[in-house]
Amino acid sequence: MKQVTQAEQLKQLIAQARSEGKRIAFIPTMGALHAGHLSLVDQVRTDENFVVASIFVNPLQFNDPSDYENYPQSLGVDARLLNDRGVDLLFLPEPETIYPESPNLIGPEDIGSNLGEVLEGEFRPGHFQGVLTVVSRLFDLVTPDIAVFGKKDAQQLALIRQMVAHQLSSGRRMPLKIIAGETVRDEHGLALSSRNARLDSDQIEIARTINTALSSCEGKSASVAKSQALQMLHPDIKVDYLEIVDSESFQPVDDDYSGITLALFAGYVGDVRLIDNREISIKGS
Ligand code: PAF
Repeated sequence: MKQVTQAEQLKQLIAQARSEGKRIAFIPTMGALHAGHLSLVDQVRTDENFVVASIFVNPLQFNDPSDYENYPQSLGVDARLLNDRGVDLLFLPEPETIYPESPNLIGPEDIGSNLGEVLEGEFRPGHFQGVLTVVSRLFDLVTPDIAVFGKKDAQQLALIRQMVAHQLSSGRRMPLKIIAGETVRDEHGLALSSRNARLDSDQIEIARTINTALSSCEGKSASVAKSQALQMLHPDIKVDYLEIVDSESFQPVDDDYSGITLALFAGYVGDVRLIDNREISIKGS
């Protein structure tokens, strides 16, 4: 696996891979990698693909400065994991490569989306502007044909799809396929997250009630599912939201709705903010 920090080196290696007939498959990350990230690599590691991963802890998407300061970092281990998993190129950009003097900020409203106003958008003001801005910039630099994002960040994934569709329709971007990766969980159902590294063993137990609560929503009406799920969360969890929503609009579904929805959670275990979601089938009341 090659490692580069400069845009120019990246460009050369991408051009070389393309000249060999390869497609560019891209996995952007903020490091502190776990099996969830590595499963994203597995989805695109084929002979036809030149697999590029990036690690950049993006200051712009942290609405809480202490979350940014405490974000786990493990570059040496991450690089070894990516190499062993078959990544061809690791891009480690400097902040000035990603953010030139006046970066072109892209928020949900700039791509005609209202997803920035609800759930994560509401609880983390500016977060999605940071995410879309960095992802768009990384896409400009890496020029991928395929990019992979985890389903655990469901609202992020939906917004990135919307941004790519918007940029394609305005001729701002070449065709790019966004692939979704399944959430990877521990043996008790806790969704793997870089932030889990900041939980002690008692907090891990507490955090495991998130999946129990979300899974319990299956087969109930939206209101019953929500109120029972809230009861199943460990009392020490400080909930930002637990909602049963339509998986495109991210708006709560009506109580008479039957069908597939997303049960979404965000909240704090200690001072660590976790999110999770499960696709569940709801039965209207
Ligand atoms: O999901 C993440 O790790 C980040 O939000 C991303 C997509 C790498 C952008 O910084």
